[in-house]
Amino acid sequence: MNTPSAMVVGIIGAGEVGSQLARAAIQLGYEVVIANSRKPETLQGLIEELGPSARAATAAEAAAEGDFVVIAVPLQLVNNMPVDELAGKVVLDTNNYMIWRDGHYAEIDEGRKTVYELRQEHLPRSKVVQAFTHIQAPRITTAGQRAGAPRRLALPVSSNYPEAVQLVSWLYDQLGFDAVNNSPLSEAWRSAPGQPAWSALQHQTRAELEDNLTKARPLPPR
Ligand SMILES: NC(=O)c1ccc[n+]([C@@H]2O[C@H](COP(=O)([O-])OP(=O)(O)OC[C@H]3O[C@@H](n4cnc5c(N)ncnc54)[C@H](OP(=O)(O)O)[C@@H]3O)[C@@H](O)[C@H]2O)c1
Repeated sequence: MNTPSAMVVGIIGAGEVGSQLARAAIQLGYEVVIANSRKPETLQGLIEELGPSARAATAAEAAAEGDFVVIAVPLQLVNNMPVDELAGKVVLDTNNYMIWRDGHYAEIDEGRKTVYELRQEHLPRSKVVQAFTHIQAPRITTAGQRAGAPRRLALPVSSNYPEAVQLVSWLYDQLGFDAVNNSPLSEAWRSAPGQPAWSALQHQTRAELEDNLTKARPLPPR
């Protein structure tokens, strides 16, 4: 894998998760190109905080410039991403499906698709991977522990592409978290809101997360 200092992370979404992943990426030596839904000028304060390794752009520019790209935008905007610019790239999806915010998606409610499968369908030429869904944004840069620490937090990762799982697992480890591979994307329902792996999200070790994933049961249609 390339060294991070040679790489650019595109981040679409500059809210709680996007801005915190920008801080984390810069700590790891990446350059960051970050976008929100408005003009890049609206991110001036964040860019001043992040420093010279970051710049603001449009979502299409962030997608085009990133060696890999984070989408930290709620599901309700699943059809509003720069599909062509994201083609061929690993795309980290931080989304959690929240009906109160996103509205109802029948495919998810009836257990026919996971939220990440929907994203993959929308981005058919990208390599979508569930990432950083099971940690509150501020803790991405504060909750990490050294490898082997007895209560090291574990986070799920899910993708149809092994190289995407490898990248996210490496990022987790660099930030102080264990990865539990819950691939492919069709398995990601096991960690969805309402499941044991979701309820325990702040505290799970690798063994506990693996156990919680096996305890998942289909939820009744909502
Ligand atoms: N908050 C957490 O601790 C946390 C943790 C893990 C996972 N998640 C999940 O991650 C996702 C993002 O959560 P969040 O808390 O970061 O949300 P948020 O704070 O509401 O931020 C959402 C960001 O998306 C941007 N955005 C909206 N539409 C866009 C578009 N079409 N193009 C580019 N940017 C767009 C918004 O820009 P504007 O400001 O211009 O509208 C905003 O910067 C959600 O699905 C959430 O469930 C959240």
